[in-house]
Amino acid sequence: MRIAVIGSGYVGLVAGTCFAELGHNVVLVDNDEEKIASLERGIVPIHEKFLPELLNRHHNGRLSYTSDLEKAARESEVIFVAVGTPASECGDPDLSYVESVAREVAKALEDHHFKVIVEKSTVPVCTSDWVRKSMLLNGAPAESFAVASNPEFLREGSAVTDFLYPDRIVIGADDERTAQILRNIYLPLIDGSYYRRPDAIPGPDMPPGGAPVILTSTKSAELIKHASNAFLAMKISFINAVATICETVGADVTQVRQGIGSDSRIGNRFLNPGIGYGGSCFPKDLLAFRAVARECGYDFRLLDEVIRINDEQRQRFLRKVRNVLWTLKRKRLAVLGLAFKGGTDDIRESPAIKIIQDLLREGCEIVAYDPAAMERAKAELRAEKVSYAQSPYEAAKGADALLIMTEWDQFASLDLERLQGDLKYPIILDGRNLYDPEAMAAKGFIYVSVGRAEARPKTHYAGAATANGGRSGR
Ligand code: UDX
Repeated sequence: MRIAVIGSGYVGLVAGTCFAELGHNVVLVDNDEEKIASLERGIVPIHEKFLPELLNRHHNGRLSYTSDLEKAARESEVIFVAVGTPASECGDPDLSYVESVAREVAKALEDHHFKVIVEKSTVPVCTSDWVRKSMLLNGAPAESFAVASNPEFLREGSAVTDFLYPDRIVIGADDERTAQILRNIYLPLIDGSYYRRPDAIPGPDMPPGGAPVILTSTKSAELIKHASNAFLAMKISFINAVATICETVGADVTQVRQGIGSDSRIGNRFLNPGIGYGGSCFPKDLLAFRAVARECGYDFRLLDEVIRINDEQRQRFLRKVRNVLWTLKRKRLAVLGLAFKGGTDDIRESPAIKIIQDLLREGCEIVAYDPAAMERAKAELRAEKVSYAQSPYEAAKGADALLIMTEWDQFASLDLERLQGDLKYPIILDGRNLYDPEAMAAKGFIYVSVGRAEARPKTHYAGAATANGGRSGR
């Protein structure tokens, strides 16, 4: 099939490349000509596992790039819209990019060849109606197109495998013909033939029949995306709230999580406590979903609480840093992890960056290390008091404490003896619970994590003054 993907940001680039991998001829469109030129030169703009391999595999073959939206739309049967939908001040998504794509695509429909316009960006329910109206207003013949919704559930860091090995493919279409066209695009995943290919990108085991398809109306598909992200964010805030109670009563959130998550109705995924969720999706989508609900006359206060708990989680972590270090002015802190989670270079809405900004305001000096996100962080954190190290150990050299902010594998397997030699004081504040508190105390660390008791070496309990002046880490 001939497919145009409008917008080559995270979702567009991954989806377009994977459509080519499934055998389609794909043109990736972006109005950023520099981006298109660098894609043409074979430069991969984001850090994403398997993406360089796939771009390389289909470059100059089934995958091409252009800034000419109208031409791309004219030559394609299916047009995926994957442009940005940034949040405005009050949380409403800004749909002006979607509207301008609808206007442009309308111009390409004069020849009456039926085309499907598919929403791939996360948009509020009923956007498909607006896209249709806008296209009609701009001269598209009513019978020449359909608008569908095919939300994407990929996570940064595992986007390619999430796309090729999906839990489900949601196809939101209001007529049989459109649904069938979308089904055909995903056929190699649906009938499982992709997984039998010798050159298939490796991934988890799939059901023998291939990936499950969920056929819905367009509006239901639009809602599924917002509701899924809101639910996942709610799970994270829920466990973070439970972690707070654990800290107060001396319970262990890891055990509590295991107990909750082994109930198959709940499941233990997305129940990892930490410093709160970030990224380009959850924070924005929660605000958008709340705004959608408000438009519909429903005050979705549960979402307010999810957002409040998430903000509070960063503040709690800052309080822990203060509690363990006493004063913060001129303290040198090693920070491991800058992105909003491990496995990515994306720092959008990163809790790590927000925490660093607060620590800088309190007069700390930061030495940061991240395997992928340092370049992006440099552009964001233009402070004199931030420097960047080439390894976790270099960051730790002479630091008053080490802060772990993201869950890269590398941070979970640090050489602790070496670290102890590098740090000025053996203090670790772990915002992702990567280590066992007792084992850390046995190795001589003061170790503070989330939802678990603060751990200290035995010698600290012999009546000597403690580094936090005897206050607890709560
Ligand atoms: C998310 C959704 O998972 C994906 O389906 C959607 O398409 C886009 O948004 P992504 O933003 O890439 O994906 O990140 P995700 O892995 O979901 O993590 C989001 C945030 O939640 C991160 O900051 C992460 O650290 C945090 N998180 C996640 C937790 O704090 N605890 C968890 O248990 C899981």
